[in-house]
Amino acid sequence: MKKRKQPNPKFHVGDKVHCLTIDLYGRKLTVKSSRYIDFLGCHVYTLEDETGQLVYRGNHVSNEVPEHFLKSAEGILERYIRLQNLFLLGCIMSDLQQLLKVIKVSKYKETPPKKLLYEILHEIEAKLHYGTYRNWDILVELLANWTVQNEDLSLGSLACKAFNGLELKYKDLYNHINSLDLFKHYVVALKQQPWDWLGEIFIEQELVGPGQNMTPRAVVDLMIKMTLGEKITKFQTVLDPCVGTGRFLIEASLLNPDAPLVLFGIEINLSLYRACLVNMALLSKHPYSIICADSLRLEPKLSGPTSKIWDLGNQWLHPDISAFYWKPPPIWHDRFSLKAFTELKTK
Ligand SMILES: C[S@@+](CC[C@H](N)C(=O)[O-])C[C@H]1O[C@@H](n2cnc3c(N)ncnc32)[C@H](O)[C@@H]1O
Repeated sequence: MKKRKQPNPKFHVGDKVHCLTIDLYGRKLTVKSSRYIDFLGCHVYTLEDETGQLVYRGNHVSNEVPEHFLKSAEGILERYIRLQNLFLLGCIMSDLQQLLKVIKVSKYKETPPKKLLYEILHEIEAKLHYGTYRNWDILVELLANWTVQNEDLSLGSLACKAFNGLELKYKDLYNHINSLDLFKHYVVALKQQPWDWLGEIFIEQELVGPGQNMTPRAVVDLMIKMTLGEKITKFQTVLDPCVGTGRFLIEASLLNPDAPLVLFGIEINLSLYRACLVNMALLSKHPYSIICADSLRLEPKLSGPTSKIWDLGNQWLHPDISAFYWKPPPIWHDRFSLKAFTELKTK
């Protein structure tokens, strides 16, 4: 059970601490915000409409918000706070902001996963003021922290626990977002609507660089069905050598939850690799290993659970794989040498 807040000794049972009546848009609209201490010592918030009818009564401890209040009062409150900013006393303002936050948080239960990720992103933006790419990286990192603390990582734990090397760098921010239950609501929503929502945000925020375009879901599903077929009875490794945020592996797992699959992914970009780790930890139904490396420089036979690099996957601080590289690659982003490539193949 949550610990009740100690009452502020300044206030007494039944005291109306703040109360304000204002006009909005010249219309005689009265919004009252009052806060008092009930007999159990809780801070109680009430809000009345112009007829004096109670539209909201809630407290810090329960966070309960009645359904009708969500519909009617949020709009009023938001406008109220925006328009009356200049006139409001600090204490009233913070009361109303607190109230608005309670309403917002109570709605997270019904919010779709992508929107919840944006909510987390907004909290990061509001606190850290970095660029969009860095904010997305931090979003992934905070989710990774929550995942390590709250989820079963056994399918991704290889030679060491998945996310090995991850540290909690943004402790205050993490605690703040966690106190809003945003991570938890995201993971619950994600499991109801499983998909690579981190990748979707990456695309929508226009963070995609050259060669990083992700495959649309319908195409991913079709390709998975075409390559794996309907009934999978034989043990198989699904390999995505350019795994990105992991959508092929995720869908292979979700579409065939009971099939005897193992999943193997390679990604060269560190940010996408880490997002893939989060996605896999939250969604994969099969054992998996994701490696951060250049797949063009790895032999195909190094893929799969019997390979030497399988156990090096899924680590936040990824190990150096270059000892396993066979040669400099015949393909660079600006040139491709058919001669070098053919020589490599024939050796
Ligand atoms: C076009 S995206 C596709 C991602 C994912 N497979 C999908 O279909 O949505 C290609 C991905 O491969 C990665 N990549 C490019 N060259 C690579 C290489 N040599 N080794 C590993 N990954 C590479 C890019 O960073 C990018 O994330």
